[in-house]
Amino acid sequence: MRIGVIGTGYVGLVTGACLAELGHEVCCIDSDRAKIDRLLAGDCPIYEPDLPALIARNRMADRLSFSSHTADGVSSSDVVFIAVGTPADSDGEADLSFVHAAARDIAAHLRGFTVVATKSTVPVGTGDEVEAILAAHASDVETAVVSNPEFLREGCAVGDFLKPDRIVIGAETSRANAVMEAVYRPLTARGCPVLFSDRRTSELIKYASNAFLAVKISYINEIADLCEDIGADAAFVAEGMGMDARIGGRFLQPGPGYGGSCFPKDTQALLATARKADATLSVIAAAETANRRRKRHLGARVAAATGDLTDKVVTVLGLAFKAGTDDMREAAALDLIPDLQARGATVCASDPEAIVAARPKLPGVAFFRDAYAAAQGADVLVLLTEWPAYASLDLERLHRIMRGHRLIDFRNLFDPEAVARAGFDYISLGRPASRRSIAALGHGAAVIDRMQSALQSPDVD
Ligand code: UDX
Repeated sequence: MRIGVIGTGYVGLVTGACLAELGHEVCCIDSDRAKIDRLLAGDCPIYEPDLPALIARNRMADRLSFSSHTADGVSSSDVVFIAVGTPADSDGEADLSFVHAAARDIAAHLRGFTVVATKSTVPVGTGDEVEAILAAHASDVETAVVSNPEFLREGCAVGDFLKPDRIVIGAETSRANAVMEAVYRPLTARGCPVLFSDRRTSELIKYASNAFLAVKISYINEIADLCEDIGADAAFVAEGMGMDARIGGRFLQPGPGYGGSCFPKDTQALLATARKADATLSVIAAAETANRRRKRHLGARVAAATGDLTDKVVTVLGLAFKAGTDDMREAAALDLIPDLQARGATVCASDPEAIVAARPKLPGVAFFRDAYAAAQGADVLVLLTEWPAYASLDLERLHRIMRGHRLIDFRNLFDPEAVARAGFDYISLGRPASRRSIAALGHGAAVIDRMQSALQSPDVD
């Protein structure tokens, strides 16, 4: 099939390259000439593992092209995807001006029957607006507007696209369904399930999914706080919960509060949709408030663990909103670091990928690519992003080069026993302050013994 993708941002580029990988002939369009020039020169403008290789391979195979002329991606395409940005406006509502502009632009270049599919995350009813724009500006051409949301996580977007849990297609006609079914046939043939729904339902599935995951994270974060207060271990609580197939174990990892371009924006946009419809989404509102409060209180947590921060050196390991990306949008570091500075601390920071993006947002911070260089002479080490490389840092070496020996782990990345062995005073999430590890406890060892003997000779009721 011939496919056009409008917008070469994160979603557009991943979508275009992956659709080409599925065997389609794809043209990615962007009005930003400089971006297209970079892509044509073989430079990938975003950090995403596997994407540069995928782009190169599909360009070599002549299945993927880039252009700043909309006609190149629209005139002879069976399907045109809209994958432009939908930033939040000041009320938390999604700003649809780029989507509307893309629809007008597409309308100007349509030739024959074309499916226009929205990949951008858009509020319920946006498909109707796109349809109205196409009808107004291209009344002589038949079109079908479809909602086809993406569920791509930064850092593993290529894998998420090529091996999705599900494909959601929201269309109003069987002709549109058939075209979209053909787009994804290489994936459905491998067993990927597809859900066909009407367009508004599909638009809501995207928001409802992201908001649910946001609720799940806020939920486990609050349970982790409770664990600290009452002497339980959040890792075991999450594991025990996750073993129930109805709950599932993923997205139950306590952390500094969710960030990124999607969860904060999408929860706010869904709340704005509910406000407009005079509906109540109190659970999502609570999750959103809890997350904002959590990020605002990170500095207070560090201060509570270390005392007065005046003239202390705090080293923050990890700046990106999560591992596997250079994205600083809504990253916890943007709340924590200015707060530490306001409390009188000097902040040093390190990140394998995000320093370029972080530098303009975090004045007064000394940045180091090397984690050991960042930790040299520090009083406190704060682990904020769960980069796998940090898990294998030499703790003894860190202990030797630091002035103080407190390690605050907002991702539970480190093994409490290894940290204690290295001589650190260790604070992590959802583990009671009085015990650093269940195995280090007398009664913890007894629990493990009991578990082991139960496994060897299970009781049968
Ligand atoms: C998300 C959605 O997962 C994806 O489907 C969507 O369409 C785009 O938004 P992304 O923002 O890339 O993807 O990151 P994700 O891996 O979902 O993490 C979001 C935030 O939640 C991060 O800040 C992460 O650190 C946090 N998180 C995630 C936790 O704190 N705990 C968890 O268990 C999982």
